[in-house]
Amino acid sequence: MTHGERARGGGGAPRPVPGGSFHEMWRELAPVGRHPGSGGYRRFAWTGADSECRAWFEEQARARGLVHEVDRNGNQWAWLGDPTAGDAVVTGSHLDSVPDGGAFDGPLGVVSSFAALDELRARGVEFGRPFAIVNFGDEEGARFGLACVGSRLTAGQLTVEQAHRLTDGDGITLPRAMEAAGYDPDAIGPDPERLGRIGAFVELHVEQGRTLDLSGDPVGIASAIWPHGRWRFDFRGEANHAGTTRLVDRRDPMLSYAETVLAARREAELAGAVATFGKIAVEPNGVNAIPSLVRGWLDSRAADQASLDAVVGGVEKAAREYAEAHGIDLDVVRESFTPVVEFDHALRDELARILGKDRDPGLTVPVLGTGAGHDAGILSGSIPTAMLFVRNPTGVSHSPAEYAAEDDCLAGVTALADVLEGLVRR
Ligand code: GLV
Ligand code: MN
Ligand code: MN
Repeated sequence: MTHGERARGGGGAPRPVPGGSFHEMWRELAPVGRHPGSGGYRRFAWTGADSECRAWFEEQARARGLVHEVDRNGNQWAWLGDPTAGDAVVTGSHLDSVPDGGAFDGPLGVVSSFAALDELRARGVEFGRPFAIVNFGDEEGARFGLACVGSRLTAGQLTVEQAHRLTDGDGITLPRAMEAAGYDPDAIGPDPERLGRIGAFVELHVEQGRTLDLSGDPVGIASAIWPHGRWRFDFRGEANHAGTTRLVDRRDPMLSYAETVLAARREAELAGAVATFGKIAVEPNGVNAIPSLVRGWLDSRAADQASLDAVVGGVEKAAREYAEAHGIDLDVVRESFTPVVEFDHALRDELARILGKDRDPGLTVPVLGTGAGHDAGILSGSIPTAMLFVRNPTGVSHSPAEYAAEDDCLAGVTALADVLEGLVRR
């Protein structure tokens, strides 16, 4: 029986062993949502691939005797101990992906969480606090444009009205997509009570850069997340015939868009930041038609707010000038934004001690910042959060080439287990 059959079958045949090793879990999850052509993952929120990932999560939870629960925002929880007792230790990540994403961004954290729990049980650790593993819904925002929808809703950083207005590229709204996947969109909303019961959240994640590779360490601790956001640029011109319209008569939005892409690169270089136009929609999208609309999405991130403001302000100013020069109408809409995140210092220091001098008096663990967004960053506004990173030898991420060596993944599991052991024993 394949994983998919077992997952869809709900109460199918019991597993011969509770859960599986890291390697077995990894192998089982690997085919879900992988595109045969690109080799990348297309696990978009509330689609069939997402449902299969969720079924896998539930199956892993139940195999370990954990209580499986889906919260009002569609996030999945697997509980050990009384969820209502308070001061819980929670770990986990997400299972959705960007278009043609890698295998590790998100799933490494979820699989490592189950493996770390197995390790704690094998060590005979007594849990003095409730414990849970979480799979946050729609972290990447690949389908509806906004990242971390599940954690944002829970933390009250996205209103119900805003969430209800989210629409995918096919015109399907978030509520309709949730409904089609069997969830109640009317239930979504802030969940302070749930967050109030959590004492600490630790997310393990593949590193999305090469800091650990360069320092020669398999595991590091996060210090901060750069402020980052997404802006939609709508350039509106006039559709017309590509063969018969004189160049001087055209109102071609592609020209202003192209100049804006170059401006983004320039502004990012000036500010020591990053800026990317990675997604574009063109109407009518005909090879022999001048476009009526070019819609481009700018993703920009910087180490500090002032630099980010300088980049986005500079790009918008340039775009308005180019648009005016070509007779183009321009709308710029900020679709998402996450301010700088400084992870909880006390928790970070505790992780550094557990993974450093508690293991060996002379050992220090690298502490690094990142330009990538995470659910841990969203939750850090409400509860103490921390992150562990696992070495990525190429630094490549959001690509099928994303990779971490199995030995490093297992070092990540041990590090997570050590950290959780220190936390749950208290
Ligand atoms: C999420 O991975 C992001 O940083 O875009
Ligand atoms: Mn990602
Ligand atoms: Mn991620």
